[in-house]
Amino acid sequence: MKSDVVPIRILEGSPFSVEMIDQKKLPLEEVWVKCENVNEVAAAIKTMVIRGAPAIGIAAAYGIVLAVAEHGEDALESYVSLLASTRPTAVNLFWAIDRMKKVVANFDPAEGQDLVERLKVEADTIFEEDRQNNLEMGKQALSLFRTPSRILTHCNTGGLATGGFGTALGIVRSVHHAGMLKKVWIDETRPYLQGARLTAWECLKDGIPATLISDNMAGHFMQKGQVDAVIVGTDRVAANGDIANKIGTYSLAVLCKFHKIPFYVAAPISTIDSDTATGDLIEIEQRSADELTHIAGQRIAPVGIDVLHPAFDVTPGELVTGIISEKGIFSSPYHFT
Ligand code: MRU
Repeated sequence: MKSDVVPIRILEGSPFSVEMIDQKKLPLEEVWVKCENVNEVAAAIKTMVIRGAPAIGIAAAYGIVLAVAEHGEDALESYVSLLASTRPTAVNLFWAIDRMKKVVANFDPAEGQDLVERLKVEADTIFEEDRQNNLEMGKQALSLFRTPSRILTHCNTGGLATGGFGTALGIVRSVHHAGMLKKVWIDETRPYLQGARLTAWECLKDGIPATLISDNMAGHFMQKGQVDAVIVGTDRVAANGDIANKIGTYSLAVLCKFHKIPFYVAAPISTIDSDTATGDLIEIEQRSADELTHIAGQRIAPVGIDVLHPAFDVTPGELVTGIISEKGIFSSPYHFT
């Protein structure tokens, strides 16, 4: 079982380079952007050519390989800082960078391997492990869906956001493959529209029965008894089980509590940040006002209006029915170690 949607592909060769599907242009155009150096990788993460917590971790890992290949080991710290400054909320970015730094720290040239080759192997492993973890999360979640279900999801957490298959959308895929999905409700995910643009595209591509709704319709369909469960991804899980995810996630969790609908979070272990005690300590990325005042380049709000645009919110762990990882399903009180 392998999703054909991946956000990044490797052009092997010497030197190698990476290509990323431009997620800013989907679904209207399928354009691959070539990154031949670490600066281009950092720019692709920052401008959201590639996005989704695990996917940006994978991209950063390849960025480090390219940095060391071009500039040598001594310049590593400055390129680590560059990559780490691209987006603040997803812990996978920092997790992947740390993993690559450990390879450099533990590298012993006496073993006869080339450092760049060793780093490339590590980046490939991070990529492949993420896909495998997603498949495993899909298996873990099947016990939760014993009857055909209508699952609501938010943002894009599919192959595009990961090393393939997906976290929350990967679980939706698994439930579908097991014959237990009636349909997935896709929140459009204002203002960046990852649901309408990317999740809808993935579902159509894979023949997953799906209905697109705007975010403010979720409560309406819950009230009508048409949502059996909500599954979202996450950019960072704090040690107490609070989760940061795409703006609008918290509202869904509160709605679920009122309507007694299970609210699940799909999180590979790489997204669990045991060093951050509680969700209020997670840095929330603040994005441009233009993403609210404009749609597809067209202004929709009056010039001069004050705008706020936090890209993520924090949902308290107590509102989360279960955190589905590749190692099992955690529930409150959360103990991840
Ligand atoms: O701003 P984005 O599109 O990078 O945000 C993505 C999300 O919020 C996802 O839900 C999260 O990264 C989990 S993806 C597997």
